[in-house]
Amino acid sequence: MKRLPEGLGPVITLDRRLSRPLHRQVYDGYRQAILDGRLRPGQRLPSTRTLARDLAVSRIPVITAFEQLTAEGYVDSRVGAGSFVSASLPDAAPAPRGKPPPKARPGPRHVPPSHLVSASEPWLDLRGPFRVSHPALDEFPADLWARLVARHARRMSPRHMMYGDPMGLPALREALAAHLGTVRSVACTAEQIMIVTGSQQALALSAQSLLVPGDPVWLEEPGYGGALDALTLAGARVVPVPVDREGLDVGAGIERAAEAKAAYVTPSHQYPLGVIMSAARRLQLLDWARRQGAWLFEDDYDSEYRYDGQPLASLYGMDDDERVLYVGTFSKVLFPALRVGYLVIPRDLVARFRRFRGAMDISTAPLHQAVLAEFISEGHFARHLRRMRGIYAERRRVLEDAIHREIGDGAEIVGDHAGMHVVLKLPKKARDREIAVRAAKRGISAIPLSSCYNGRRGEPGLILGYGSTHLAEIPSAVRRLAALLSD
Ligand SMILES: Cc1ncc(COP(=O)(O)O)c(C=O)c1O
Repeated sequence: MKRLPEGLGPVITLDRRLSRPLHRQVYDGYRQAILDGRLRPGQRLPSTRTLARDLAVSRIPVITAFEQLTAEGYVDSRVGAGSFVSASLPDAAPAPRGKPPPKARPGPRHVPPSHLVSASEPWLDLRGPFRVSHPALDEFPADLWARLVARHARRMSPRHMMYGDPMGLPALREALAAHLGTVRSVACTAEQIMIVTGSQQALALSAQSLLVPGDPVWLEEPGYGGALDALTLAGARVVPVPVDREGLDVGAGIERAAEAKAAYVTPSHQYPLGVIMSAARRLQLLDWARRQGAWLFEDDYDSEYRYDGQPLASLYGMDDDERVLYVGTFSKVLFPALRVGYLVIPRDLVARFRRFRGAMDISTAPLHQAVLAEFISEGHFARHLRRMRGIYAERRRVLEDAIHREIGDGAEIVGDHAGMHVVLKLPKKARDREIAVRAAKRGISAIPLSSCYNGRRGEPGLILGYGSTHLAEIPSAVRRLAALLSD
């Protein structure tokens, strides 16, 4: 029979000064732990030898206590397998529970109100077709990835088990420097790249490293809730700046807060509207940042996916003054649970960011970094990207066709042919939050556009993701959505 590992015991304290014998104290401690639910039915107990050693007593009181617990039905002892908490307990043992509530009224507890974007909105419980930010996970080369993970896990030596470098694994940073230079015109060295735990951490780290509480920061409106949360966590005063057909309206930003210390932008594919920031606006933004001494947080979250023409150059590539912090992620191009992203840092800030990262969480786990470095350098990443571009382009085409056919003039598709979502603008009077809740009840996922506005009242619309929606389900899902819109 396979030997199970020994169990762990609850904390009990023995006091030799008490008149109560030691075996009784062990018995009481274990019985109470069982009745409290700290030890659960079926849970394995430590051996009497181990427990005697841990409690610094001879085995005799421990054996006596366990015999008593067994006789009373609290513990089952199986020869050769050890002792377990009985699956059927004598006293009506309460269900396992946490700490009991305090007997006296608790004193004041200083928990400030949360200003973070609520994760409990009904439409964020993403299910069914059109989930936003979900890539086609069933198209991911999972077997290949598993082989690479196994290979790297086997190679792990004690050196790999130590704290990682806050900047990340050199092999991955080298691979990324080459990739970004070629496809995103981000000319940087590996020394400037920090591997982060998703772009969310890149934004939080940039805000915490470069801002002090109360600093005004421009945020695109409508915009990305994750950026709003990261800035809010750093205590920034968020200044919503409208987005029009050319991207962030720099003139409006200057009117609202010319003195801002930073701006968050998604120039390659604005989230959520999908517009591309024009060259004129980019130059205007860089000029403002230069004059003001402000930082630009460029979130290039899905620029790999453009379905007509070449991907556009980054804002980073146009910046001669090292004002731009460039953020990228593998959440869309590989899978979100990977939690790997990257941050390209201006050279004079690298040491500062390294220190802040060390204080935050030290580093991203090295194992997946090593796997990813090999995935890129062996050409799997480029191959996967090419394949996925074809798949998403087709899903987008079928979705747009279905929207034109089923919804027609009832909504307008906005944004460029890129990324993994479309925005449907609804008529001015439409109540997009109610529609999104009704859609969720019918198994369709949609984020209301108005929920992406932080300042003024938002325009109504629906954000529909098509990354994980199969071609075959798109037409019927759009038909159900059209029915909902005409209710
Ligand atoms: C605008 C934007 N940035 C970044 C991300 C990805 O964030 P992360 O890398 O933390 O998963 C998303 C994902 O939905 C996004 O929409």
